[in-house]
Amino acid sequence: MSGGLRVPETVGGARILAFGDYQPARVVTNDDLAAAVDTNDEWIRSRVGIAERRIAGDDEGIVELGVHAGGKALAGSGLDPSDIDLVILATCSAETPMPAHAAIVAHRLGIHAPGAFDLNAACAGFCYALGTASAAIRSGTARNVLVIGSEKMSQWIDWTDRSTCIIFADGAGAAVVTASETPGIGPVVWGSAGDQSDKIAIADRHSFIRQEGQAVFRWATSAIAPVALEACERAGVRPEELAAVVPHQANLRIIEAIARKVKATNAVVADDIVHSGNTSGASIPLAMSRMIERGDVPSGAPALLVGFGAGLAYAAQVIQIP
Ligand code: UT7
Repeated sequence: MSGGLRVPETVGGARILAFGDYQPARVVTNDDLAAAVDTNDEWIRSRVGIAERRIAGDDEGIVELGVHAGGKALAGSGLDPSDIDLVILATCSAETPMPAHAAIVAHRLGIHAPGAFDLNAACAGFCYALGTASAAIRSGTARNVLVIGSEKMSQWIDWTDRSTCIIFADGAGAAVVTASETPGIGPVVWGSAGDQSDKIAIADRHSFIRQEGQAVFRWATSAIAPVALEACERAGVRPEELAAVVPHQANLRIIEAIARKVKATNAVVADDIVHSGNTSGASIPLAMSRMIERGDVPSGAPALLVGFGAGLAYAAQVIQIP
């Protein structure tokens, strides 16, 4: 052997063929929660922007939610399960740490022997997974990737804690990513602030999600817009060219603050939180899938995705809407 090892041929770019989404059937309203803890519909709507959320039953976990969303994305992509060679499942709320849920989801969807792993970057997880999928494709390591964000936050919530039980919810979103000479996924801008990892955390296996709401709020409304703007800059897209801005659905006030700072004057801003709550790593593909399904955004136009949350981790990229 001389001159080093053989490596795959690189590909010009990657693009998204289709999104999919899934939410459990059970709707939990603010009034339902007000019957259990000291809160009210007006406080939740004005401080967080949530009117209702979906909560999964005992028969639906990370795998089931992911199978529904992944199956829908796969059907919309026109690809066959046998075309998928990598499955990445972003989650921070799995029931168990192993085995990887991605492998089980792949098996249930009839995807034979793909590379499969779970990825945890909390609420930024989908953007991290999409960046990883795009890099795998461009390096020639994978050809078609199923990327899923699946969260069952309800199993890590203290239902007597009004500061968290009104926020988080369950759901899944997915995207099928393929090789493309014309790039449809811009460079990912990602990072983390581990010095603030105590701001949102589950302390141990017997604990629930706790967060320092105001500290996270200040961070999200100050540190994230520059990340989003850098993603636009690196993709060569001006904010006014964006057709959609899809921030992680953490809090409607945070979403509006980021959108104002990005100055995407012609974009539809995702507000899926109103009816879905905060589904962590699922919120971005869930919101994007529903915007496309409703016909809110034109195919081929650029959309900005920006995730942020526990870690504190963040990631953003511009995509071409499928
Ligand atoms: O997805 C991961 C990333 N996470 C985030 O981005 C979350 C960022 N933070 C937030 O979205 C907000 O900080 C929260 C929604 C978590 C809280 O909203 P806030 O406007 O920051 O409220 P606060 O924590 O400052 O609380 C204000 C008051 C307090 O009462 P006092 O001390 O002023 O008497 C709370 O005890 O509101 C009270 N409060 C509530 N009242 C009614 C807290 N939760 C509730 C509630 N209903 N559910």
